[in-house]
Amino acid sequence: MPTRKKIGLIGAGNIGGELARLVANKELGDVVLFDIPAKESFAKGKALDLEQNGSILGYDARIKGSSNWEDLRGADVLVVTAGIPRKPGQSRDDLVATNLPIIRDVANNAKKHCPDAFVIVISNPLDAMVYEYKRVTGCDKSRIVGMAGVLDSARFQLFLAREANVSVKDVRAMVLGGHGDDMVPVLSMTTINGVPVTTMIAKDKLHAMVERTRKGGGEIVGLMGTSAYYAPATAAVAMAEAYLLDQKRLLPCAAYLDGEYGYKDLFMGVPVIIGGGGVEKIIDIPLTDEEKGMLAKSAQSVQGIVDVVKKS
Ligand code: APR
Repeated sequence: MPTRKKIGLIGAGNIGGELARLVANKELGDVVLFDIPAKESFAKGKALDLEQNGSILGYDARIKGSSNWEDLRGADVLVVTAGIPRKPGQSRDDLVATNLPIIRDVANNAKKHCPDAFVIVISNPLDAMVYEYKRVTGCDKSRIVGMAGVLDSARFQLFLAREANVSVKDVRAMVLGGHGDDMVPVLSMTTINGVPVTTMIAKDKLHAMVERTRKGGGEIVGLMGTSAYYAPATAAVAMAEAYLLDQKRLLPCAAYLDGEYGYKDLFMGVPVIIGGGGVEKIIDIPLTDEEKGMLAKSAQSVQGIVDVVKKS
């Protein structure tokens, strides 16, 4: 008998709740909204609210709040948001001390209870947290990605669309590298439905938008006092959907690099094909010398934080 997919959401906070809402609404599968024991009743309340939402929207997904890892047994996908979000003035890297023990706890439990899941990590600092998750679980590189590039690209695309006064649907852009202030929006490949963006937006304006994108997360933290959650959740669901429906989408994701782009034993944002096989392929795109330089700088920052994690 066919069974429904099981999607485990580790962390039932702002992003976790929005993930559950999107997964249920798209009927991608049943959801386990997981949090620590102190937050179990909160997770259960959120799950119940979202199940009741289904009576109006017309979805049958079961959503269960839990703090018991047994409930995650056999999960097809895990999306990890466990951790503390940024407060105004903090960088993502400032979160290492709090989020490192949390990601280790999650990875140890996930290894035991759902070793076959395709894993999408969102917790920050992203590139280091996804690295640590893979190190602790020893999972295959095809089973794990970090969510950053889809979100950073979405931010960049919005700014470009507004500036060029065109639909955001027609903007194609990719942001690669680490999920930090030196991420790399690939201008040489940015188009408005095939039209090079440089023919429609002046250089200085583009430069300002690149800078705004790099600080895009911080801009929202400054306004809300906590991290963004709508677009981050939507980005991760696009990645989960690509896996569950074998869509073979080409998405910028933090993937484990084993020589690609000249980097080894590092997670960083690169164009990836996501399908039923998980990370099916990393696509090597030709970058300009300037972009290669920016990627090297970004990789250096990621390596710096990974080195801190390795020593902790
Ligand atoms: N296991 C499961 N859940 C945990 C654990 C753990 N070991 N430790 C913390 N959590 C839970 C918290 O109890 C909280 O409910 O993770 C949840 C995080 O939710 P929020 O505080 O609302 O944070 P959110 O905005 O969802 O962001 C989560 O994603 O983008 C990143 O920087 C962000 O690292 C942060 C993460």
